[in-house]
Amino acid sequence: MKLNQYMVGAAVLLASSVAQAGVSKVPWGTTTEGQPVSLYTLSNEDLTVQITTFGARVVGIQAPDRDGKKADVVLGYKDAAAYEADSSTYFGAIVGRYGNRIAKGTFSIDGTAYHVPINNAPNALHGGPQGFSTRVWTAREIPHGVEMSLVSPDGDMGFPGELTVHVRYTLEGSSLHIAYSATTTKPTVVNLTNHSYFNLAGDGRGTILPTLMMIDADRTTPVDATLIPTGELAPVAGTPFDFRTPTAIGERIGAANEQLKFAGGYDHNFVLNASGPGLHLAAKAVDPASGRSLTVTTTEPGVQFYSGNFLDGTKTGKFGGKYEIHAGFCLETQHFPDSPNHPKFPSTLLKPGETLHSETVFTFGVEK
Ligand code: GLA
Repeated sequence: MKLNQYMVGAAVLLASSVAQAGVSKVPWGTTTEGQPVSLYTLSNEDLTVQITTFGARVVGIQAPDRDGKKADVVLGYKDAAAYEADSSTYFGAIVGRYGNRIAKGTFSIDGTAYHVPINNAPNALHGGPQGFSTRVWTAREIPHGVEMSLVSPDGDMGFPGELTVHVRYTLEGSSLHIAYSATTTKPTVVNLTNHSYFNLAGDGRGTILPTLMMIDADRTTPVDATLIPTGELAPVAGTPFDFRTPTAIGERIGAANEQLKFAGGYDHNFVLNASGPGLHLAAKAVDPASGRSLTVTTTEPGVQFYSGNFLDGTKTGKFGGKYEIHAGFCLETQHFPDSPNHPKFPSTLLKPGETLHSETVFTFGVEK
């Protein structure tokens, strides 16, 4: 049978209506201060994603393996109280106002020095002790997803300017899109990312050491012993940081390498090869056993590849067991750590009248 243009049109219409993500919302407890927390579920035939207003966090992603069997592929907790009690992992969170580290919590804008709290001595990490990951965000349903919004007051955690942030999570086919926007009332620094920990074998199903990782980066920003970039851009060639061809995370993680020693594994910013205003490839991870894959594209210049080095078996996950070291990996798309103190790095300065736009897409698939 030959399809005529009307039949093709009808098929496209049908396909797009099937791919529509359903969005639902349920109450999800309250914070210790009594603020109500909600849980949104976005789902279509490919993926189901749960997102909470507490820290605008991704709480669950159910993705199929090569036989169509679904598993939850992100680490997290079963309720809001458990997220609130954990100040060290940032499971699934939107981190900000400044994701990753600022050396000694100090930076200057236009000759004025600012001091933000030191919560990862001797540095500031992920926006400080009450960063965006600890806030209850305002949420509203949008087509295919949910928009989370937050107004961070002038002086919040030491940062200048009132910052208005919107993070739009939408589900399109087998992709979770995260679109960030932000505006400020005074010049400030901003670095927003999502801190999901993935385990493509399934949450609680062993470590991520067998996961094959590919990162499209010829260089990293090496760090000192406190994980602050030295300012150098170092080639990955001939080092355990060369992930330009898919390599098991565990293959070289124990190598005698000063950078790996400083971080207890991978916890480094990779300088992405592609740049420009549009989405470009950052990384692709594949779990060989289940076939599940994750492709990350972004508009950001870097990605922090973190191999879950600080997980230490003390936190009980939603799967009912403890998260041991390397139970998950993070691919935090971002501007480079400590950029406010490195004029040669892409700038994280946001001025009044400008709008920050950033987008990252997590696409799930299977390899046969
Ligand atoms: C980022 C940091 C790590 C660590 C984790 C959370 O990946 O670079 O050093 O703080 O977040 O534990």
